[in-house]
Amino acid sequence: MFVREVMASLVKNSRKKKTVQIELETYEGKFVVSAPSGKSKGKSEVQDYNSKGIEHSLKMLKVFCPMLKHKNFLIKKIEDLKLLVELMKRFEGRYGKFGGNVSYAMESVFLKAAAADNGKELWQFINDEVNGGLKPKMPMPIGNCIGGGVHSGMIKGKKPDFQEFLLIPREKTFSRAVTVNFRAYEDAKELLRKKEKGWRVRRSDEGPWMTSLTNEEVLEILKSVAKKHGLRIGLDIAASSFYERGYYKYKNKELIRDKVDQADYIERLIKKFGIFYVEDGMQEEDFSGFKEILNAIEKNKSKTLIVGDDLTTTNMRLVRRAVSSGAMNAMIVKPNQIGSMIEVKNVVQFCKQHNIVMIFSHRSGETMDDTLADYCVGFGGQFIKTGIYGRERLIKLRRVMEIERELNK
Ligand code: PGA
Ligand code: ZN
Repeated sequence: MFVREVMASLVKNSRKKKTVQIELETYEGKFVVSAPSGKSKGKSEVQDYNSKGIEHSLKMLKVFCPMLKHKNFLIKKIEDLKLLVELMKRFEGRYGKFGGNVSYAMESVFLKAAAADNGKELWQFINDEVNGGLKPKMPMPIGNCIGGGVHSGMIKGKKPDFQEFLLIPREKTFSRAVTVNFRAYEDAKELLRKKEKGWRVRRSDEGPWMTSLTNEEVLEILKSVAKKHGLRIGLDIAASSFYERGYYKYKNKELIRDKVDQADYIERLIKKFGIFYVEDGMQEEDFSGFKEILNAIEKNKSKTLIVGDDLTTTNMRLVRRAVSSGAMNAMIVKPNQIGSMIEVKNVVQFCKQHNIVMIFSHRSGETMDDTLADYCVGFGGQFIKTGIYGRERLIKLRRVMEIERELNK
């Protein structure tokens, strides 16, 4: 695969913040990838840009990209990104770090071009490598229906302390699941209007409805729409975002919980509302707290997914630790948390070996890029987590639907 040209630029994401976009031209065509951006980030995520900021990363790219011109890359599998990684590392040795968002976008655009060079779509290229080319199983969407936490502004000075209230279909096809989620999301809007005085339509970062109701009040709404549409429900608690010096500080109803109370509270909520999915129920360094929750649900023979996100940050060392200490049975995969597709592949293989359910996830700041969909299908993720509403979210859902149609031809 000969590189004709590589170009870097800055584009705006769904939060109107700048992010990096890389365009690669080969003899097969032009390929583009832009990077998403997190807001409620895990402490162990790689830095997204150079410590001097995104503009500095762009300056570095303006020097680096022309150096790739006319180079030949032979990429038959993910591991073959090594040459590119090596070149970037060498450059970083002289000029400082590009940042995880840059390496994510650069590696991804090279994979896209390599797939085309081999006559394949990106999902196919990856599926051939990690799944021996067997027909992949379609994921189910996890949709953000009602929001709180750091992604959300405030109505009447209040918001739920949990970050995301999620809907999770169980349908025969992905496209049907997307429709069901959207209907339930619309129904949730009507229930919010009824339950909250003076409620008006406002959406937060990933497209979910904003509200000033409490966690439990929102869970009641979620449960009722889920029942009507045959859905499961989930939470991204993002517990680190309200954890301060040993305590979980709840603000909607002012309350402080220590570690034991927090785990106990989560366990009670799981039981009371029949919750299927709980992400980051404890702060990101509390492996034993996660384990306590997982043990409790296993004792009750519950199938609830106990999910690591900030806990694991798609980082092999942390994933190993979480699995060996029995802290989770599922995890979030966000490639730009680690900024290395070789590392993502290693994490995926480890999860498969240990029966850890994988959820490929968007970030709160998203672009019109749909690479996440190909990664989810190609790597064999059981779920893809996005918003239910908003063009940056829908484009990913539509891409999975397109792959589904392709596979059923
Ligand atoms: P982020 O959070 O994209 O803002 O980091 C999303 C999440 O916590 O899942
Ligand atoms: Zn999360």
